[in-house]
Amino acid sequence: MYRIVNREVLAPAISLIEIKAPLVAGKAKAGQFVILRLWEGGERIPLTIADFDRERGTITCVFQEVGKTTRQLGTLEAGDKLKDFAGPLGLPSRIQNFGSVVCIGGGVGVAPVYPIARALKDAGNEVTGIIGARNRELLFWEDRMQAACTRLLVATDDGSYGHHGFVTDLLREVIGEKKELDLCIAIGPLPMMRAVSNLTREYGLKTVVSLNSIMVDGTGMCGCCRVTVGGETKFTCVDGPEFDGHLVDFEEMARRSVIYKPMEQLALELYLGETGHRCSCGRGGGK
Ligand SMILES: Cc1cc2nc3c(=O)[nH]c(=O)nc-3n(C[C@H](O)[C@H](O)[C@H](O)COP(=O)(O)OP(=O)(O)OC[C@H]3O[C@@H](n4cnc5c(N)ncnc54)[C@H](O)[C@@H]3O)c2cc1C
Ligand code: FES
Repeated sequence: MYRIVNREVLAPAISLIEIKAPLVAGKAKAGQFVILRLWEGGERIPLTIADFDRERGTITCVFQEVGKTTRQLGTLEAGDKLKDFAGPLGLPSRIQNFGSVVCIGGGVGVAPVYPIARALKDAGNEVTGIIGARNRELLFWEDRMQAACTRLLVATDDGSYGHHGFVTDLLREVIGEKKELDLCIAIGPLPMMRAVSNLTREYGLKTVVSLNSIMVDGTGMCGCCRVTVGGETKFTCVDGPEFDGHLVDFEEMARRSVIYKPMEQLALELYLGETGHRCSCGRGGGK
């Protein structure tokens, strides 16, 4: 069993959990993820390693309550235990001194991009961070990103904080003002990563995205997380999760990401019907 040592609500429906898992923490690197199960018979869900502390032997994950299992996770508190916590999984981010790098986090994607930005800055890069959310209330870890980046730009869709608009607007400005960008890393919702990749393709700026395809085993055996990259079949869990954004078939990925929607919806409705609505997402009660 894996004990939750800390739980913080960062924004409506977005929480941080810190889990005691010394073996995972001992090997974790930026860009990797874990697969956890809440209890015996529970669904396996992948979450990115947002931070790790080798001395405390803990892993930090940030999750958004979107369906049944993440809402169940949202009901757990410090002191509660998870049944399984497998990792670190996936390939770590490539960290070296590229020169000048832009790290973009959209929505809950701010959490996975944070350790990558920090590692890139530690490796000597000049790191421009761009973070965005739908509104100010949903924005988190601005302070951590400030510390991890050489400079940080913020956007909200509704203009309630920072630039009024999308992270891609800010990226276009950064590209315009700085001719010598060496790498762009973008993590967030699929449409955001696709928009970033389309923009940087115009400028020939190498772009890495972290894909969140649906996973089951996380070890390359089930084929569930299959994606097409540069015309080749890849498994996100073992070949990724990071890939060249200019080569990813986002169209296919978007289609595959909704294939279980009816089952997910049914599972959520049954869960809400059984329990009322006890999670921290603030969306009210009942079915
Ligand atoms: C490598 C990787 C890292 C991820 N990191 C994070 C993270 O740091 N924070 C975070 O909030 N979310 C992360 N996700 C997404 C997270 O796994 C899903 O939100 C979660 O599985 C949803 O489960 P659910 O039962 O609550 O929702 P459901 O209602 O079952 O699904 C809601 C949506 O979540 C996605 N999803 C569902 N099941 C899975 C699955 N087994 N694997 C992947 N996606 C699924 C689908 O797009 C689905 O439409 C990551 C996914 C991957 C693949
Ligand atoms: S999750 Fe099964 S092959 Fe990747």
